[in-house]
Amino acid sequence: MSNTLSHWLKKNSLVLLVAIIGVTPTYANNSKAAIATAHPLATEAGFEILAKGGNAFDAAVAVSAALAVVEPTSSGLGGGGFWLLHRAKDKFETMIDGREKAPLAAFKDMYLDKSSLEGALSAAIPGMPAAIVHLASNYGRLPLKESIAPAIRYASEGFVIGDRHVRLLKEKSDVIKKNPAAASIFLNNGQLPTKGSILKQPDLAKTLQQIANHGKAGFYQGNVAKKLIDGVRQMGGIWTQQDLDNYQIVERTPIYSYYKDIKVTSAALPSSGGILLAEILNILSAYDLSSLNRIQRTHLIVEAMRRAHRDRALYLGDSDFVNPPVSRLLSLDYAAGLRTSIRMDKALPSDALDGNGTMQTKGADTSHFSIIDNEGNRVAATLSINYIFGAKVVVKDTGIVLNNEMDDFVTHLGEANGYGLVGGVANTIAPEKRMLSSMTPTFLENTDHIGVLGTPDGSRITSMILLAILDFSEGHSPDSWVKLTRFHHQYRPDEILHEPNSFSETEKEELKKLGHKLKNRGYRYGNMQAVELIKSTSELKAASDPRGEGFSDVR
Ligand code: GLY
Repeated sequence: MSNTLSHWLKKNSLVLLVAIIGVTPTYANNSKAAIATAHPLATEAGFEILAKGGNAFDAAVAVSAALAVVEPTSSGLGGGGFWLLHRAKDKFETMIDGREKAPLAAFKDMYLDKSSLEGALSAAIPGMPAAIVHLASNYGRLPLKESIAPAIRYASEGFVIGDRHVRLLKEKSDVIKKNPAAASIFLNNGQLPTKGSILKQPDLAKTLQQIANHGKAGFYQGNVAKKLIDGVRQMGGIWTQQDLDNYQIVERTPIYSYYKDIKVTSAALPSSGGILLAEILNILSAYDLSSLNRIQRTHLIVEAMRRAHRDRALYLGDSDFVNPPVSRLLSLDYAAGLRTSIRMDKALPSDALDGNGTMQTKGADTSHFSIIDNEGNRVAATLSINYIFGAKVVVKDTGIVLNNEMDDFVTHLGEANGYGLVGGVANTIAPEKRMLSSMTPTFLENTDHIGVLGTPDGSRITSMILLAILDFSEGHSPDSWVKLTRFHHQYRPDEILHEPNSFSETEKEELKKLGHKLKNRGYRYGNMQAVELIKSTSELKAASDPRGEGFSDVR
């Protein structure tokens, strides 16, 4: 038995006893479902598919495909993601790893004099199309065609664009203008569209239809594949048909960790999320956070984040290529060792921790959705093309925005990436390797509550999930998790990054006195989408982050 599991069993023997003798109500099928996504039309697509007899997994296909159309800033067929699944009938859990892979011609130093952020060379081989096909055929109940239909409709008939789309487009319009295929879709004769105008994407509708008709082959082979390879290579990229032929999703066992009476199920490598959460929670489990004031509590959480992120930088990478010491990082003994250097009266500068890993951080990109259906099936999925509009190029005639996920690798040892993250050799580029991610789709469960949650925003993701877990542990609901003010520490840079309203002036002074450096990010970040089931009453709750334009509902 692992240390972590035996610790949890010891702390929760009463909970287990109650569960075994059946005093805790086992939750009956809830008659409704809950969905939270970053866009109202994606949420509607999910409910439409549930109404047709689909389950949470069909709804997840519908939502993923719909987000590719209505939130092209953040995720899409040209990107990838992680789909964390819980199947109610047998409690089977898995993570579909649809993370992008480096092309076969990729090599460690390929970005020394080239951009890993813009243009086709920054694009890795997409995993999203393979993942949704796999999800539909292995877990769904409806034909793929039916689940993708709402997305095809949104792409061909168009949808009304909102403030967020226009704002993000404005930020990137100078680069988008340089790519005629992207400009022809997202700009009107080179000008920014206004909020309320209709965006139609007929080429994307055709590509989605190919996937609906032919499954994985509709994207990775045939006409679409040929257009992708020709288009990418004309724009300076290195994709080949063999790259597309070789792309496979992988089902991975999630990372399990335990905090108080909560079982946390989260993303496995190549996401760093589950391991980071486990390390931070293991460190914090020895303290009674509720007895501390806000400064002491923030200080401890930051010290735990600092140590866990140091390990991310030093050790983590694609476990199909490198051998990170995962069991050690997850063990309670290891956490106890890390705790010995924590002082309540003083921050430990990151320079004083061993190791010289560099860490990366990222922007208002990526997307997350959460679903619980009326059978208790769950999906937490975080999807990405990396930065806003990914590589900021579209492949002609396909409607596909390419990802710039190659920047999630360590492209220059010792230098931070776009998210300010540093990393080590475990995350350097190799052909067919997956780049380390921060995406952290997560399930939480205690005796009476099940939470499903996640959020975009690069390296800040895990910190946002952590703060939500601590809030869940205090009995709060999704509505509270998504609204929490946020702060983050990622080892390097050695600073607490925070939202403008996270701390009062007095609190900032107190934290500085402990030796912390603070950096106001200048705006509120993240876009959490969360749902919850109360087992004893079958009540469902859903909430979308007030920072975004998402929509959540229970029907
Ligand atoms: N592309 C953001 C992440 O995977 O962390």
